[in-house]
Amino acid sequence: MNLKQMAGEKAAEYIEDGMILGLGTGSTVYYTILRIGQMIKEGYDLIGIPTSRKTEELARSLNIPLGRLDDYSYIDLTIDGADEVDPELNLIKGMGGALVREKIVAASSRREIIVVDEAKMVRMLGTRSPLPVEVIPFGTGFVRERLTVLGGSPRVREMNEKIFVTDNGNNILDTVFDGISDPRKLEQDINNLPGVVENGLFLGMADRVIVGHEDGPEIIEK
Ligand code: A5P
Repeated sequence: MNLKQMAGEKAAEYIEDGMILGLGTGSTVYYTILRIGQMIKEGYDLIGIPTSRKTEELARSLNIPLGRLDDYSYIDLTIDGADEVDPELNLIKGMGGALVREKIVAASSRREIIVVDEAKMVRMLGTRSPLPVEVIPFGTGFVRERLTVLGGSPRVREMNEKIFVTDNGNNILDTVFDGISDPRKLEQDINNLPGVVENGLFLGMADRVIVGHEDGPEIIEK
């Protein structure tokens, strides 16, 4: 059983005709987006706001009508993946490199559903995944140094032996914390550093998490 597919497809059951949808990024919400493509074929009237170029390409290939965030005062529902989920439904996101747009779209959404396989569930954030921090290239060295002072072990993300560049033209510092005991303080401390665009802590943003388990999907509500 593909647990990502289970969670991704289950989330599509919350989509209603006429909705403006935030389209997340990653290999779990991929299955939701495939399902949205089928719903468009079936005659649903939906508009998607993509959180990355990759998701935009996928949505276009499925003929999902797309809109610009600026054209809507709010998004009805966003469905997205995550790298970690804690018992309060706080998240780490950004291992797919789309955290800034994902956070803006989440903040614009009336409801946010997160889709994950069971391996993403943790007791404390920062115990399984590094925390991605997006920085403008000029500030990368400075922010790396300051993240060390905050107790992290940052590393500039690379892909195919080159420095990874986000859709916004920035770099990512994947920062290991070995457990984040006060995520609210850390979120503020990091975002106060000049050069930081955003970090991957999504606190209080998820309304519902759908978890894929071997014996079926689990739905956790806030
Ligand atoms: C993208 O930047 C991330 O926030 C993804 O949502 C996250 O990495 C989950 O991806 P998967 O569903 O591929 O694990």
